[in-house]
Amino acid sequence: MAPITHLECTKCGAHLSAEQPQTVCPKDGGVLYVRYNLAELKQTYTAASLFGRTPSMWRYAEVMPEAEPVSLGEGFTPMLPSREHPNVYIKDEGLNPTGSFKARGMSAAVTLAKAYGLKKLAAPSAGNAGSALAAYAAAAGIEAHIFMPKDVPLANRVECENYGAKLTLVDGLIGDCARMVAERKDAEGWFDVSTLKEPFRVEGKKTMGYEVAEQLGWRVPQGVIYPTGGGVGLIGMWKAFEEMQELGWIGAERPQMISVQSTGCAPIAKAWDENRPVSDVWANAETIAAGLRVPKAYGDYLILDILKKSGGAALSVTDEEIMDALRNWARVEGIFAAPEGAAALAAYRKLRTSGFFTADDTVVLFNTGSGLKYLDVIEAAKPGARRRPASRQIAGIIGPY
Ligand SMILES: Cc1ncc(COP(=O)(O)O)c(C=O)c1O
Ligand SMILES: [Zn+2]
Repeated sequence: MAPITHLECTKCGAHLSAEQPQTVCPKDGGVLYVRYNLAELKQTYTAASLFGRTPSMWRYAEVMPEAEPVSLGEGFTPMLPSREHPNVYIKDEGLNPTGSFKARGMSAAVTLAKAYGLKKLAAPSAGNAGSALAAYAAAAGIEAHIFMPKDVPLANRVECENYGAKLTLVDGLIGDCARMVAERKDAEGWFDVSTLKEPFRVEGKKTMGYEVAEQLGWRVPQGVIYPTGGGVGLIGMWKAFEEMQELGWIGAERPQMISVQSTGCAPIAKAWDENRPVSDVWANAETIAAGLRVPKAYGDYLILDILKKSGGAALSVTDEEIMDALRNWARVEGIFAAPEGAAALAAYRKLRTSGFFTADDTVVLFNTGSGLKYLDVIEAAKPGARRRPASRQIAGIIGPY
């Protein structure tokens, strides 16, 4: 594995040491990127080095932080050609441990936490990140303290409890959960592994970018559609494309990166439409896709910059369009997607109708999780079912801890 040369602030470019655990840039709160000596690595590390390697995200060991992985077999998920749309591929992240792509980020974050000797981790979560943290913390023998909105899908809560995490259900949204973690972490001795508030979840998620290129024979597609909450996967994949270019594995070509959100919580799509470099907090966030219920992404400036640089776009789809796409994928492709993942299909349909993509464009749709984690939500959304109210913001009464 690669020694980290330094951590680099994405706002001011400051260099920080990775010798001790770091959070964000102390000067400006910028997200920190992990940097390696890619010029040196390039001499020996070639795409051919991957032959016969383990089919997990740790096959890219040379561009992952140096530490003994805490692994449950995450990554190297199938890239399935769509049966319905020629040139479309579905990257099925539902096959990851804990049923979502959050496994990648948490495998990396917990690996480094263990290497640093941290004993207590805390995170706010819209649902799946909590389950993933709980599982990897269990595997590492580390305490996990998780704060989730009380109306997350049932599976997330049940998973956390069974993995032995300390779970607090909050009458509020992920932002309220994040505030609680921030307020209590010093007194409790927790290390905060919130989205983009430590540098290693991005390192795990970036492996999706390596896999997309490897599974397409070291080509990048014309488009990547990514259901966006905090945006870590999109940010990570872009970092991976830059690294692969430095390694000489791909050229300067990049996919058009597309963020899809729900019309009930679409801060990135709104900022994109207004041509702004950052987003506003989305009031009264409400959507069936719990993972997209992020009223303000910490890395919004990175997401919006990537969309622009890639010639991409951000758009929103309704919960009805999401559920229609979910049922369609199940019936036509045999893929039972998470609502967040189904949003990628809903977005693809819109982008085909508008002519943004043509039938000739190779487009990768990220199904970020398994529908099996949303049985309660999907049942309640069945036509004619007594509807469970979509998850919504409730003024901040705090549950017991
Ligand atoms: C299934 C699923 N898809 C997408 C997302 C959004 O991910 P990100 O925060 O990396 O944008 C989440 C977040 O919880 C999720 O659980
Ligand atoms: Zn900085």
